[in-house]
Amino acid sequence: MSAFQLVSSILIFILSVFFTVNAQPSIICNSGKFQKMGTNMNSLPFCDRGLSYQVRAKDLVDRMTLEEKVAQIGDNAVGVQRLNLPGYKWWSEALHGVSDVGPGTHFNSNVTAATSFPTVILSTASFNETLWKSLGEAVSNEARAMHNLGLAGLTFWSPTINVARDPRWGRIIETPGEDPFVVGRYAANYVRGLQDVEGYLNTKDPNSRPLKVGACCKHFAAYDVDNWKGIDRYHFDAKVTERDMVETFLLPFEMCVKEGDVASVMCSYNRVNGIPTCADPRLLNQTIREQWNLHGYIVADCDSIEVMVNGHKFLNDTPQMAVAQTLKAGLDLDCGVYYPKYAMQAVKEGLVKEEEINHSLKNLYIVLMRLGWFDGTPGGAFVQLGKNDICSPQNLELSADAARQGIVLLKNNNTLPLSFSSGDLKPTFAVVGPHAKATIAMIGNYALKTGLACRYSTPIDGISAYGNVKYAPGCSNVKCQDGSGVPTAVVTVQNATATFVFLGLDLSIEAESLDRVDLKFPGSQETLVTEIASAPNVGPVIVIIFSAGGIDVSTIARHPKVSAIIWAGYPGAEGGRAIADVIFGNYNPGGRLPITWYPADYVDKIPMTSMQLRPLSDLGYPGRTYKFYNGSTVYPFGYGLSYTKFTYTIRSAPKLVTFNLARLQKCRPIDFSDGQKLDCPAILVEESKCREIIKIGLMVRNTGPKDGAHVVFLYTVPPSNIAGTPIKRLVAFKRVFLRAGESQPVIFNLNACKIFSIITDNAYELLPAGEHSIVVGNKPDAVTRNIALRFQ
Ligand SMILES: *[C@@H]1O[C@H](CO)[C@@H](O)[C@H](O)[C@H]1NC(C)=O
Ligand SMILES: *[C@@H]1O[C@H](CO)[C@@H](O)[C@H](O)[C@H]1NC(C)=O
Ligand SMILES: *[C@@H]1O[C@H](CO)[C@@H](O)[C@H](O)[C@H]1NC(C)=O
Ligand SMILES: *[C@@H]1O[C@H](CO)[C@@H](O)[C@H](O)[C@H]1NC(C)=O
Ligand SMILES: *[C@@H]1O[C@H](CO)[C@@H](O)[C@H](O)[C@H]1NC(C)=O
Ligand SMILES: *[C@@H]1O[C@H](CO)[C@@H](O)[C@H](O)[C@H]1NC(C)=O
Ligand SMILES: *[C@@H]1O[C@H](CO)[C@@H](O)[C@H](O)[C@H]1NC(C)=O
Repeated sequence: MSAFQLVSSILIFILSVFFTVNAQPSIICNSGKFQKMGTNMNSLPFCDRGLSYQVRAKDLVDRMTLEEKVAQIGDNAVGVQRLNLPGYKWWSEALHGVSDVGPGTHFNSNVTAATSFPTVILSTASFNETLWKSLGEAVSNEARAMHNLGLAGLTFWSPTINVARDPRWGRIIETPGEDPFVVGRYAANYVRGLQDVEGYLNTKDPNSRPLKVGACCKHFAAYDVDNWKGIDRYHFDAKVTERDMVETFLLPFEMCVKEGDVASVMCSYNRVNGIPTCADPRLLNQTIREQWNLHGYIVADCDSIEVMVNGHKFLNDTPQMAVAQTLKAGLDLDCGVYYPKYAMQAVKEGLVKEEEINHSLKNLYIVLMRLGWFDGTPGGAFVQLGKNDICSPQNLELSADAARQGIVLLKNNNTLPLSFSSGDLKPTFAVVGPHAKATIAMIGNYALKTGLACRYSTPIDGISAYGNVKYAPGCSNVKCQDGSGVPTAVVTVQNATATFVFLGLDLSIEAESLDRVDLKFPGSQETLVTEIASAPNVGPVIVIIFSAGGIDVSTIARHPKVSAIIWAGYPGAEGGRAIADVIFGNYNPGGRLPITWYPADYVDKIPMTSMQLRPLSDLGYPGRTYKFYNGSTVYPFGYGLSYTKFTYTIRSAPKLVTFNLARLQKCRPIDFSDGQKLDCPAILVEESKCREIIKIGLMVRNTGPKDGAHVVFLYTVPPSNIAGTPIKRLVAFKRVFLRAGESQPVIFNLNACKIFSIITDNAYELLPAGEHSIVVGNKPDAVTRNIALRFQ
């Protein structure tokens, strides 16, 4: 390169940086714009970059009249023209890809779709924290690109982090499963992927930390009944014990706020113990804001305040009374019109002070400032993102990879991966079932309203890459109400090299506002499989299930002619090729079920509306989730097969952990069922320093014939002589990749207080002395080590 070339390329570089920075989508604090209005921007503290966001937000809010203020606290904020403050649509969604379900985002003829990644329940099954964060990063790249094109806002009300407490829940598709710790880790990683701006992670004031986009953890809290036998979320009062609240329902939100530093939390439609969540100052102000120290805003689920009035008929409130209660509880933003419509009247009637509205607005504007809405992003970050970053080859590949990583192999009777020696004729496959040509079913909910995707790789496309295919739907739709298509399917599969049956559920069976009433295959689906498996001249039969919630598949799991069963969640728009990669051995499956699959009769034993996690022996209710349900399962939490085999050894773990009591620290009593008496039976975690870190060293071996990924689960088991404790509790997990024959160390450094504590029935976190244990892996391959705890 000549000196001239060098100089000119530097010049071009500088110019392009200069112009890119200036090309930031119309920021508010732009002196030219104010000049046109006849105002000198330098006289406006809210545009002064030298001041803190707190001070700037206060200045902006103080310039508004009450009427102007109330017009900004609904999701469709109209702006204040005289202050050069444009309107802003707060509601966008990005649960597993940018979606146009919220009015803040739309697609047009230039950008017809965004990448549709697998639904959350499937990505969770990878148990790969790096993947969860990568998904957030890819989604926020597309979100920023759409923002730059004027097609999306900056605040996305995702992820959904309610635990999947009951297998019937219609929104399991959106959640990271049944374990509150896994849900919390998913939340923290996905939120960081969405929000974090590299180089700005450790700002001194967290309220000035720049955000890539704003995420939102929802729905807070104990929200997981949608519509079950006529009981719906707009009327449901969840009766929740304080212990379940702390141990299960709040934990993921606490982790989302503390570990993810999320910019927003959304309160839910339901009541908890009589009080609508959005009107409960204990839940919102005291817990989220004070105790967890949220840096951001609290938003209501859409029309929640109206639901308080018309659904719950809470305290026979008028609309303005409900608005006053929610403002006082700490709710900043209404997705809906109740705040803009009734807040002024509420202030005038003396039901709430204007000051509460000031507070809320400040919380909202600080987030918009962190997003660069006023000043642009730091160093012009993200302004270069555009159309080519949406549906990019890289993101489509990540979508396929997330599906491959999550897919769970449930049964494999020496059949998969399928391989054919090169001398064979091109094989002929039968592809049957109501999901064989699935498109929109693969992208689940919170996808594109039109059902469009960047492109689709359907199941039949995926299989077609490996042979000729013959197709028969078997059922006219997923409900499969009449079995008239079964005989044709049975003929189609005869003489095929192998048969693939794609079936399961879709949004006509499990969805928002639609809980399931049973855990069976819909309609004639099971008959379709058993008839095919019993057909003459049938090759190996491989069943691929699309679903979020578990299905009682025990009949086909036992069927000697059903060779393999795969659970593929709802695998996203690239699902077809991801499934084919697993079937034909390009990818060795390592996904694990993030929920328990219960037998069909589970639903007869416990109503969906019972929120208790622990078994209720008086009522004969079994417990819920792997932590409290000890009955038989179709497949347990954490289940999943591989094409290879892994074994563990525990190489290092302490036999005894001694905790030093702080001066004057009290020992706490505990009821040991065997009458055991100890000098110091237990301590309260909140009174302890909790600095004891223990190291658990494992060796994982791939003893089988193939390379593969493997998820290592580490559980703790409390002493057996304490009533009411979980059967076991997941405290750490890690997905590792091992070549055939390889051994790899996996080391967990864990806080002993946190991993061995229990939640008492009055909701204290207590650390009991005695014989605890750790369990690595799931039965039958689990290895165990006892660890005694003692206080001195
Ligand atoms: C709230 O806003 C009103 C009107 O702008 C103002 O008079 C009042 O001082 C504000 N209060 C607080 C605490 O910011
Ligand atoms: C599509 O993009 C072109 C070029 O950037 C632009 O001129 C046009 O207005 C866009 N169309 C829409 C509907 O936004
Ligand atoms: C929230 O709680 C804090 C302290 O508990 C209190 O000072 C503040 O006024 C409360 N805010 C609201 C909106 O209730
Ligand atoms: C399957 O092959 C057998 C033996 O080759 C043949 O008799 C039968 O008609 C074939 N069935 C179908 C449905 O093609
Ligand atoms: C596995 O396949 C063998 C041979 O076809 C069969 O005898 C056995 O019953 C099958 N087992 C299951 C669980 O399907
Ligand atoms: C399972 O739990 C129930 C209820 O606590 C108990 O009665 C039963 O003995 C337990 N069963 C097993 C197999 O542990
Ligand atoms: C975890 O996910 C990342 C990102 O997709 C991927 O690169 C990595 O290989 C995965 N790890 C394992 C062990 O599968």
